Amino acid sequence: MIIGKPLLSTEEIQKRVRQLAEEITEDYQDRELLAVGILRGAFMFFADLVRHIRVPLKVDFIVASSYVKTETTGEVKIHCDLREDVRGKDVLLVEDIVDTGLTLSLIRKKILEKGPSSLKVCAFLDKRERRVVDVPIDYRGFVIPNEFVVGYGLDYEDQYRNLPYISIFKKSI
Ligand code: IMP
Repeated sequence: MIIGKPLLSTEEIQKRVRQLAEEITEDYQDRELLAVGILRGAFMFFADLVRHIRVPLKVDFIVASSYVKTETTGEVKIHCDLREDVRGKDVLLVEDIVDTGLTLSLIRKKILEKGPSSLKVCAFLDKRERRVVDVPIDYRGFVIPNEFVVGYGLDYEDQYRNLPYISIFKKSI
C-alpha cells in the first residue's frame, strides 16, 4: 500500500476547521445546536469542529457504512441510530466526506422524518465529481479530486484513521 504526500496538511485542515466553526457560531447565535457526527469517519473532524463552536451544543452520533475497501457498495447501512430526540431541535449533521451522496441523503431523510426545527449539513470533504444524488451541503471544508483518500478519520479497511492529515491512497501492484 502506498500513502502519498499529504493532499491536505494538518495546518491547512486546522485553519479551515476553525473557519467553519466560526461560520457556524455566527449562524447559530442565541440558539442551541444538536451536532450529529456520522461515524466512524467523522470522529476526528467532529471533535475538532465542535471544540471551536461557541454556542450551546449537545452531541450525538449515527454509525453508518457503505464502503468495502475502496469501493462503495451503493447500499448504506445504519448500524446505530440517534439517542437524542431531534423534534424541534436545530440539528447540524457532520460528515467526513460526501462521495456519491447516498449516505448523507439517507441519513438526512431519516432525521427530517423526526421533525427537527432545522437541519443543516457540514461536510469536511466534497468529492463532487462522484455525486449520484444531489444533497445540500451548507458548510464545506474542501472540494477534492476523484481519488480515494485516507487520514483525519478516513480509512482503508479501518486503517490510517489516526493520520493527522489527508493523503491519497494507492494500492501497490
Ligand atoms: P457516499 O455515500 O458515497 O457519499 O459515501 C460516503 C462514505 O463513504 C463516507 O462517509 C466515507 O466513510 C466513505 N468514503 C467515500 N470516499 C472515501 C474516501 O476517499 N476515503 C475513505 N472513505 C471514503
